[in-house]
Amino acid sequence: MKNRRVLSGIQPSGNLHIGNYFGMMKPMIDLQAENELFCFLPNYHALTSQTDGEALARNTVEAAADFLSLGMDPEKSVFWVQSDVPEVTELTWVLNNVTSVGMLERATSYKDKVSRGMTAHHGLFSYPVLMTADILLFGTDVVPVGKDQKQHLEMARDIAIKFNSLYGETFVVPEPLIAETTSLIPGIDGQKMSKSYNNTLEIFGGKDSLAKKVMSIVTDNTPPDEPKETEHNALFLIYSLFLNEAERSALEARFQSPGLKYSEVKKELVDVIWEFFAPYRERRAGLYGDTETVIQILKDGAEKARAAAEPYLRAVRKKTGLKYGDQ
Ligand code: TRP
Repeated sequence: MKNRRVLSGIQPSGNLHIGNYFGMMKPMIDLQAENELFCFLPNYHALTSQTDGEALARNTVEAAADFLSLGMDPEKSVFWVQSDVPEVTELTWVLNNVTSVGMLERATSYKDKVSRGMTAHHGLFSYPVLMTADILLFGTDVVPVGKDQKQHLEMARDIAIKFNSLYGETFVVPEPLIAETTSLIPGIDGQKMSKSYNNTLEIFGGKDSLAKKVMSIVTDNTPPDEPKETEHNALFLIYSLFLNEAERSALEARFQSPGLKYSEVKKELVDVIWEFFAPYRERRAGLYGDTETVIQILKDGAEKARAAAEPYLRAVRKKTGLKYGDQ
């Protein structure tokens, strides 16, 4: 368990919400304790959907600062920006030659994006090959994946197996790690919390806008003097994210006792969320005021990532014949 190498790439998208935090960032940050964590910001992948260079550069630094303030620890983990280890594009090219077009054509994520109106360019089409290179280049054992990325991971396994069978054992065939508690994190309208549904609670927004959103969390119309249902209750489910087991039971008991007013619970929740992120907010302000430090951390991370990649890249060059002499 201890020496598993776990890798994940997190898209640098602005305005993190608590669904991102509890669904993906916190589990990732917690993995640092028991595993060797490799985590990077996939800015080459971002090019498949973003053409505003200034925005991408800014989002990259900000996402790094957000991650660091929320507990990514560069002493324990390797944390870098994808394009700072451009060798990954070399591996992508090599892997392109063991990847069948048919497999890429079956990618549901690609098909979805195209059906939603994105241009079907080659970068978008070969996205899973670059993602495979990300994974294989660092000898990754395990990749934590959500439902939407499962098929990409299967492709990475297929490509690794194909390369190994053609050129001899070279790559670790990665395993998916499906989060145990894939419990849905509801947004303020009760659907899954997602930017595209416009139902999020931001981690680092202002307190007034947080309060406004929390007050508008949908609730049923059970009268105050009747017990409340908790299983599908967005207010209960969101509040629970911030509680330990004992506190959650206490909250449940309150919901089940007559007299509970949703509006009072909401007011309470605003403060709970605000206080929960207070230390992170402070750290984040420090990092936003000192981007030099953030950039230095990323550069140091890239050096460590490059060192981990080196033996794999050397083996690939040798086995494929790209290395042709004693160089
Ligand atoms: N495709 C992933 C996403 O959109 C990001 C990603 C890129 C990634 N490379 C990766 C995830 C390698 C895990 C491993 O979320």
